[in-house]
Formats: sequence, C-alpha cells, structure tokens
Amino acid sequence: MTHTNPIIPKPQIPHRDLLQLRVIPTKAELLEDIARLRKERNAVILAHNYQLPEVQAIADYVGDSLGLSRQAAQTAADVIVFAGVHFMAETAVILNPSKIVLLPDLRAGCSLADTLTAQGVRDWKAKNPTGLVVTYVNTTAEVKAESDYCCTSGNAVQIVQALPEDVPILFAPDRYLAAHVIRETGRQMDVWDGACHVHQAIRPEDVTCQQAAYPNAELLIHPECGCSSRILSEFPDLKLYSTEGMIHRAQASEAQEFIVVTEIGMVTRLSNDIPDKTFIPVSRTACCEYMKMITLESVRDALLNLQPRVTVPEEIRVCALIPLERMIAKG
Ligand code: 13P
Ligand code: SF4
Repeated sequence: MTHTNPIIPKPQIPHRDLLQLRVIPTKAELLEDIARLRKERNAVILAHNYQLPEVQAIADYVGDSLGLSRQAAQTAADVIVFAGVHFMAETAVILNPSKIVLLPDLRAGCSLADTLTAQGVRDWKAKNPTGLVVTYVNTTAEVKAESDYCCTSGNAVQIVQALPEDVPILFAPDRYLAAHVIRETGRQMDVWDGACHVHQAIRPEDVTCQQAAYPNAELLIHPECGCSSRILSEFPDLKLYSTEGMIHRAQASEAQEFIVVTEIGMVTRLSNDIPDKTFIPVSRTACCEYMKMITLESVRDALLNLQPRVTVPEEIRVCALIPLERMIAKG
C-alpha cells in the first residue's frame, strides 16, 4: 500500500528571507514566523520532555515517548514537527504514514538506540527461537520490525506482565530498564547490554549529594538511570517513574521539593506544570545533546522548507507497526 502526502500550499516567505539577508533572527521574529507557518502548513509541534525550554514553550503537546506516540497516531494535522530525536519521528511515521513528519535536525539521534541493530536482533532470535522480543521504543524502525512488542518506560512493566509465563523474553536494549522490569514483575528475561549515555552517567553519589543539600526532597528516578539499582538497594520501597509518571507523582505527593533524577529538561516540564513546587536537577551535566539540537531556528526552517523529512520504507513500516500498536494500546 502506498501513502500520498497531503498537498500543502506554499508558505509566505518572510521578507528578510527573500532578501537573503544573513541576519540572525531575533527570538520574537522566530516566534512570529513559527506561529504563521504552523497555521499555513496545518502543522502540529510535538515535543519531548527533554527539549529546550523555548521549544517546549511553542509545542502543541509536550510529553513522554508513550504520550507523543499516541498524539502522533491520532493527529489531524497534515505535518508533524517532531521536537525530539530520530526514533521518535520514525515512530510517528510508522503510526501515521499519511503525514509529513519533520525532524528539525537530522543529527538528533540516540545513544541507546545505537546499541542495537536489526541483525543483532535476528542473531539473538536465532539463538532463542521460542523467545518473544520486547524492545524499548528507543530503537530504530528496523529493530522494531524484528520485535514482537514495543514498550516505553511508562508501560514496560505492564507489557511484560501480560506475556505468557512459559515463554522466554528477550528484552532490549536498556539493561537498567530491564532490571526495573525484572524487579517489578519477578520474570526472568534475557537482557541486551545497552544503556543511554546520559542516564548511565548519573551516579549514586550525585543523588546522595543532592539529598544532603535538600533533605526534605522526594526522589523522582527514571528507570534508565545507572544509579537506580544501588539507590533501590538502600530504599527498596522507592518507585521509578517514566518522565510523564514523574508529573503525576509530583502532583499527587505531599512533598514540596523533588530531586529529578533524569535528563535536565524534565525540570523545565515539571516546573512549568507544577509551578508551586520546587524541582532540583540531580546533576547539571545530565543533559542529552541530541535532544538539545532542536532549536527555534531549526523548527522555523523545518516548517518553511518542509525538510528534513523522516521516512520509513513501507516493508519495514508494516512490520514495525504491529509491536508499536501493541505498545500504544497498553498503559
Ligand atoms: P520517557 O519520556 O518515555 O520516559 O523516555 C525517556 C527517554 O530517554 C526518551 O529518550
Ligand atoms: Fe537517547 Fe538517552 Fe538522549 Fe533519551 S536521553 S534520547 S535515551 S541518548
């Protein structure tokens, strides 16, 4: 089946672009251009919680990987501008192939997704032919096409819990998320040895140092974090949260202060949504350079040029759709 992209009218070119002036636009000019272009293009801007504050501020929706996938699947817009990383834009294409999906900077990749190839999954399956492959959404479209189920940090536990007891599970690519799923479900799984460079670098000492400085603060820990197993051995009742789960927990908690143990952009999202509480980053160096590649300027240029586009070959897309639909149906 082929999908045709909608015909989009040509946008008005800002006067300074017609003149080809190499002037750096002001923030106000960029915001004005984005406001006009998003209407002309009938575009929706979806931003992950780790995006820069100014990018979160212009988004129609800010959320975690699960929420973003659901938004991408159901949008009525003609164009999706993905303010996130490459696998997220690919996921939008797989779920909603008739849309034009733009990733404002194609260099925005993911170190965790880079740890696993489709051939790696095929070799793994060949050694474990009866196993079910569950992959985190932080993977390429080709890897998803080899998977039985996809999951996010928001629903990995529910996805694994629902699998038949007597079937081996091959879980990839994040070993820290896998450890969390094993703890929560009691299921044994064969685990791929991958990790995200940002979350892996968060040390237990970073957490204890902030706890000493803010003794009343509650911990909000993401399951991708390298520190999570050691912190949990000290505080076994502690819960781990996806980025969206952190919002719900901070809203429900009696605490006024929180140490946010994940990528630093999450502090922006929490502070915007819950302004009467205080959110402290676990470390100022917990920063994903890929997420920060998306800027107001690149969003504006993407809307203006309808480039760079992310596409997925149809034969890969139809296979990757099955595990992704199972993912968005759960949790
Ligand atoms: P969630 O937003 O789904 O919790 O994932 C975090 C992440 O690292 C995305 O790259
Ligand atoms: Fe990938 Fe880690 Fe960046 Fe998330 S924070 S996009 S997992 S590199």
